Amino acid sequence: MDGNGRWAGVRGLPRAAGHQAGAEAVRRTIRACMELGIEFLTIYAFSSENWKRPTGEIDDLLGLMRFYIRKELRELAARGVRLRFIGDPRRMPGDIVTLMEEAAALTSGNARLTLTVALNYGGRDELARVARAIASDVAAGMLRPEAVTQELIADRLDTAGLPDPDLILRTSGEQRLSNFLLWQAAYAEFVFTPVLWPDFGRADLEEAIEEFHSRDRRYGAVAPA
Ligand code: IPE
Ligand code: MG
Repeated sequence: MDGNGRWAGVRGLPRAAGHQAGAEAVRRTIRACMELGIEFLTIYAFSSENWKRPTGEIDDLLGLMRFYIRKELRELAARGVRLRFIGDPRRMPGDIVTLMEEAAALTSGNARLTLTVALNYGGRDELARVARAIASDVAAGMLRPEAVTQELIADRLDTAGLPDPDLILRTSGEQRLSNFLLWQAAYAEFVFTPVLWPDFGRADLEEAIEEFHSRDRRYGAVAPA
């Protein structure tokens, strides 16, 4: 979800206004996914590198998260959304971690749409945390090095139990992954759109899905004759 700051900038508004409009785009996108029958949506809300931003902007982003989790939770729960969070919660403010845990617990029985929110998430950070946990199990004699397979690693990622993403969509014209789902993105299709995130809507989502369907996915094999 990129381009909130630029969206505000071209309107002469503070960056916080862009983040607020971006939060509305999140609501629209969740609704559109449900209407289109998409079962898994993961949104990159705050990266492990976003702490480099000015404190005021970090506070604005965290404040919006608090506000939206509180405000939207009941409705999301009622509509069959299962909420999940990925990332390292240890650097997040305690009250937000409590909200995250409550939201995940309240919606754990839902299955219509799994909405995964990446908060203080970084792909390299995730892999380093997994490597440390595995190393510590091996050192303690609880795990044999030969048992460290791709499946075991996948099961220990923050995304354990979630399917790998089929489509990764980035807005605002940037064409990079910026530490998002590094392991999980191995065979994802990438779609880039110049649309700034606060302007993103159902039509843009449908266009991206259409582009996705035009791709030939071979997973390293050759195309059937
Ligand atoms: C994405 O928009 C905001 C998040 C951190 C979720 P940006 O704040 O990166 O917007 P630009 O890149 O400055 O336009
Ligand atoms: Mg940006």
